[in-house]
Amino acid sequence: MTRILFAASFLVAFAGMARASVPAGTNGFSLFWSDDFNGAANTAPSSANWKYDTGTGTFGTGEIETMTNSLNNVHLDGNGNLHIKAIGSGQSWTSGRIETVPDNFAAPAGGILAVQGSMQLPDVTGAAAAGYWPAFWMLGSTLRTGTSWPGCGEIDIMENINGLDEVFGTLHCGTAPGGDCNESTGLGGNKQGMSPSLQTAFHTYRIELDNGANQIRWYIDGTQYWQVSSSAVSASTWQAATQHGFFIILDLAMGGGFPAAFGGGPTSSTASGGDFIIDYVAVYTKGGSGTPTTTTKKTTASPTPTGGGSGSCGAGLSACGAACYNPSSYTCIGGTTLCPAGDQLCGKYMIKDR
Ligand SMILES: *[C@@H]1O[C@H](CO)[C@@H](O)[C@H](O)[C@H]1NC(C)=O
Repeated sequence: MTRILFAASFLVAFAGMARASVPAGTNGFSLFWSDDFNGAANTAPSSANWKYDTGTGTFGTGEIETMTNSLNNVHLDGNGNLHIKAIGSGQSWTSGRIETVPDNFAAPAGGILAVQGSMQLPDVTGAAAAGYWPAFWMLGSTLRTGTSWPGCGEIDIMENINGLDEVFGTLHCGTAPGGDCNESTGLGGNKQGMSPSLQTAFHTYRIELDNGANQIRWYIDGTQYWQVSSSAVSASTWQAATQHGFFIILDLAMGGGFPAAFGGGPTSSTASGGDFIIDYVAVYTKGGSGTPTTTTKKTTASPTPTGGGSGSCGAGLSACGAACYNPSSYTCIGGTTLCPAGDQLCGKYMIKDR
């Protein structure tokens, strides 16, 4: 945290290194998980919370930097912030990318998942910013268990390119290229012209995945600027993209497809040392059953769905299309050829844990 609470600052100072905390949930939201980045100066972020994605050219986006686990690229500053810094010149860059170890950030059945962060984007603009691509985003946990992108779902909470004073929010889903989410573009919205700019001040970026309204909403500083409703895609695509846990990613890419679509970069004019500063990341949930609709359990111990349903199911079982299932253990999703990892495919019908 960079801001000190006015009334509490005296006590906080005596408590040691603690800084102002992650915001409590409001409007019925409860804090589920967070990282305030309150570590000692020039140390790595918590390994219980984050792991590094390292390497060059491994993300399929055309970005050119080498992601490292060096403190030069990723470190805490001792004042409650995480820094991800791009260092280099021309076509040779190092930078950082971390993702949360937990991947159970899920919307409760009928409830809402909110994922929020406060961050300042690298303070570079114009030619010096060509190629910069900071992002705060998340991927479906099913990617870690074998479901491919973009079927697993990707929700980009904040993307920014080339130092523009503009935030982009996007859902990726379905199949690529094309598909329900118009890949690889995705279903995205944006908002520009913030004052002070995204590069000169901290702003709050947030999404809400709402299983009551069947919608994802994107916000900056509390103002909604984009939404995608489940009706925009097929039921099975929405299910596969949203009804499971997510893990969060923070990264500062250089180059690649997104900057290229807005003028390109990096170039010989791109400035080294652009610093992506993250104050906190927090996950909240609200309402619903309190049980996230994860797809990661399941299996053999549960009653096994049997084929040949269609009204001839045995005692205590219900028909799900051509399959029979136990409604106390499963939910009938409906006909589909997509089946997220952990769910059973029974005939052509997906049957999922409650
Ligand atoms: C789909 O993506 C293309 C770019 O590939 C874009 O021109 C078009 O507007 C997008 N359509 C929708 C509905 O988002």
